Amino acid sequence: MAEAQLHDFPSLFSLEGKVAVVTGGSRGLGLSAASALLQAGAQKVFISSRKPAACASACAALNALPNLRPGARAIPVPADAATLDGVKHLLAQVSAQTDHVDVLLANAGASWGEAFDTHPDGAFAKVMDLNVRGVFNVIREFAPLLQKRASAKDPSRVVITASVAGLGIGTLGKQGTYGYSASKAAVIHLGRNLAVELGPRGITVNSVCPGFFPSKMSNGLLEMSGGAEALGKENPMRRLGRPEDIAGVVVYLTSRAGAHVNGAAIEVDGGALWQRGQLDVKL
Ligand SMILES: NC(=O)c1ccc[n+]([C@@H]2O[C@H](COP(=O)([O-])OP(=O)(O)OC[C@H]3O[C@@H](n4cnc5c(N)ncnc54)[C@H](OP(=O)(O)O)[C@@H]3O)[C@@H](O)[C@H]2O)c1
Repeated sequence: MAEAQLHDFPSLFSLEGKVAVVTGGSRGLGLSAASALLQAGAQKVFISSRKPAACASACAALNALPNLRPGARAIPVPADAATLDGVKHLLAQVSAQTDHVDVLLANAGASWGEAFDTHPDGAFAKVMDLNVRGVFNVIREFAPLLQKRASAKDPSRVVITASVAGLGIGTLGKQGTYGYSASKAAVIHLGRNLAVELGPRGITVNSVCPGFFPSKMSNGLLEMSGGAEALGKENPMRRLGRPEDIAGVVVYLTSRAGAHVNGAAIEVDGGALWQRGQLDVKL
């Protein structure tokens, strides 16, 4: 029966030979995602963040992984994703080393926690500039490279790291993340718009919406919210997110397995968003 004959199942989750760019790839979720791309077979993964030393040490760690394909490399490309100049600089560095890109992870993001009454205009702007405007700029500037090898059969992929804070309510009160939560809702909807715009060009655009994952960004809020262990216990799955959770969804969305997923926003939060009575979804 035709339904039983899946095409080349062993390669369904393979990223053999792919070229990827990861913004915010020097640590945290971006570094986990970059590691997954390389270990799934990617040939070149460009690691970008503002600090050159952080990009270089992330690449050294990635290039020391034992199970990379021959010749596979992580390549540092420091740039500020919050400004158009920074994004153009990133594009120039990447273009000098490849004539196409298959996968773009628009992952760099920032948060700001402060009470509503004193929430600073500058903080709101900073968060929106990186989390929304920066994501739009990086997708627009990289679209020509993404289109180079894109086809209906083997589309190029954009994955935005959004947050469950863009689906539910963010943190309220003393450490309110109003701008952050609004930015993540905005970027999820931007992703849906771009999915329909870029789908016909052979590029899928999806968002991943993590819950709490320990990272430099989230650790402060984790501590203020009772600590990682206590918060983990409140989760329906009785734990916080871990690197494999991001690795799995990123490989799914960027491999043949995810080729027909477009405009989606996939929660990776153990189900915390839907927990009964839980209105204070964090991050
Ligand atoms: N951790 C969580 O619980 C959680 C939950 C939901 C969503 N997220 C989202 O996941 C993404 C990654 O967060 P994370 O938790 O992994 O945080 P993280 O560990 O603080 O990493 C942030 C990364 O972004 C880079 N970055 C920051 N500002 C940048 C800029 N202007 N231009 C380029 N790169 C910049 C940082 O490097 P430099 O400092 O060198 O620039 C770093 O590589 C963010 O979009 C965040 O909103 C995280």
